[in-house]
Parts: sequence; C-alpha cells; structure tokens
Amino acid sequence: MPDKIIEKIVELKEKRNAVILVHNYQPGELQDIADFLGDSLDLSQKARDSKKDVIVFCGVHFMAETASILCPDKTVLLPEITSGCPMANMVTADKLKAMKKDYPGVPVVCYINTTAEVKAESDVCCTSSNAVKIAKSIDSNKIIFVPDKNLGHYVSTQVDKEFILWEGYCPIHINIIEEYVLKAKKEHPKAEVIVHPECPPDVVKIADVVLSTSGMCNYVRESKKTEFIIGTETGIIYRMKKENPGKSFYPATDLAVCPNMKKNSLEKLLWALEDMKYKIEVPKETREKAKKCIDAMFKINSV
Ligand code: 13P
Ligand code: SF4
Repeated sequence: MPDKIIEKIVELKEKRNAVILVHNYQPGELQDIADFLGDSLDLSQKARDSKKDVIVFCGVHFMAETASILCPDKTVLLPEITSGCPMANMVTADKLKAMKKDYPGVPVVCYINTTAEVKAESDVCCTSSNAVKIAKSIDSNKIIFVPDKNLGHYVSTQVDKEFILWEGYCPIHINIIEEYVLKAKKEHPKAEVIVHPECPPDVVKIADVVLSTSGMCNYVRESKKTEFIIGTETGIIYRMKKENPGKSFYPATDLAVCPNMKKNSLEKLLWALEDMKYKIEVPKETREKAKKCIDAMFKINSV
C-alpha cells in the first residue's frame, strides 16, 4: 500500500510542479520521499530559491509560513493544518510590542519559531544554526531575544552582550533533563553527547557539542566516533541511522517526541497534493514586514 501512495505522490508532484521540503523531525516515511531534508535554515533557503510553483512543507506551521513569506507568488501547502509549534505560540505581537516599550531602542532578535506577526515586530530573525552569528553582528550591546529562553541563554554564553530573554521554551526539549543525559552517558561511556540549543542550560553544559538538527547530522557523518547520545527530538535518529549504518545513536530520552511533527503522514502528503490544501498565506502588510526580518537574517548569514 505505501508503494501505491508513493507512486501517486510522485505522479502528482510532477503534475503540480511541486517540491517536497521535509524537516529532520518528520516521520521516516516522509524523510524518505523528501526532495530536500533539513533544518529550519536549510529549508527556508530551499523554499526561497525554489523554481517550482508549489511548495509542500512537511514540518510545522511556522516553517510553512516562513516559506510563504519568502515566496508569496507560490502556493505553499502544509499537509496537516493543526501542526503548530507550541513554543512559537508563547509570544504574541501585542505582548512583544509591550515589551519593546519597556526597552526603547533595544533590537529584537526572534527565533524563526515565531508567527509572521511576531517576525513583523522584530528586527532580525535567527535559527538554531546561526543564532550566535546573528547576535554577534547586531550593532547593540543589549538584545531582546524571543521566544526561547534556552536558546537565548545558550547564545548569551557565546556572545558578550546583555540579553533580555522571553519566558518561552520548547515543551519537548525541556524533557531532556540532566539526569537522563547522565544515565545515558553511564550506559554508553564511549558516546559523544550532542544536543540542540533548545535544551535546558544544565544539559547544554554537560554536552560535548551543541548544534542545529542539520548541524548534528553533518557532525555525526564527519566524526570518527561511532557512538552518539542525541539530545533532541528523536525523529532525527531515523536520518542519522540511515546515513551512518556503521554508527550507533542513542536518544537522551524517549520522551523527546514532538507530537506536532508526528501528525504528518504519507496519506496526508498525498491529500495535500490532491486537494491543494492547506494553503498557508500571510496578509500583505504583515508579510512585507516579516520578510524584512527574515531577509536581514539571510544577509548576515551570507557573510
Ligand atoms: P532546527 O532549525 O535546528 O531544525 O530546529 C527546529 C526546531 O523546531 C527544533 O525544535
Ligand atoms: Fe516547536 Fe519544540 Fe516541536 Fe521544535 S520540537 S517544532 S520547537 S515544539
């Protein structure tokens, strides 16, 4: 049955002139069918540069919304409309506006895990792979960082500036606690500990390496080590195992599963292409402001 579905997806993808972008946390069956598999930065760049008419985004809402902001003339589809990112919803444009009033003139760096409205209120966006670079390049020694206090804290340890952190966090990465990592280290003493910067500070502190999801995939591919403890959403381990058959990967905890990333399936991808749903669009005024914030990130990222 999956073969039949895959056949139909491939057929419809050609007919619609579509590209399938898939995040590293998506179910394996979707990773296997991806035109591009990657982290938030990789996929936003692929969306921006795509020549196709349709972008099907297998990820969560803010990712498809970012693609739509960058490519307003293309049709951007999110196969499961309820796939949100709870952390992105922890800050609203109105609350951010209120905070900005308390810190006049202080630039706002927003994580890409935000709504278009929040991006429209921010100066520059960042992803987990370039947050340090973006923060360093800002011409101010004070920065408002939204919404992830854990990523913000990590960046603050790498950049000599004052950070005003929003009280947001990823409800999945906070399940990766120090106790679990120490237990995994005990069980696999030869393994390197690789974590995502959305993890809590005490976990980041005991990690060997801190990277974005694609950064992790590149790292384990290049590394001479053969065992790794992975401190992020467990879906990434599918890709790591597939690309590195001789190496072993252990999740820091089985509790790090993002239910929103797992709502997607081959069937939903097929329905998305059949019915051209669900279209993600952003009103012009918000889109134009949000695009400035994302373009500012690309500009800094490219130097
Ligand atoms: P990456 O950009 O590192 O893939 O992170 C996205 C994300 O949502 C992590 O939880
Ligand atoms: Fe959002 Fe966390 Fe899921 Fe990433 S893992 S999409 S930050 S809830």
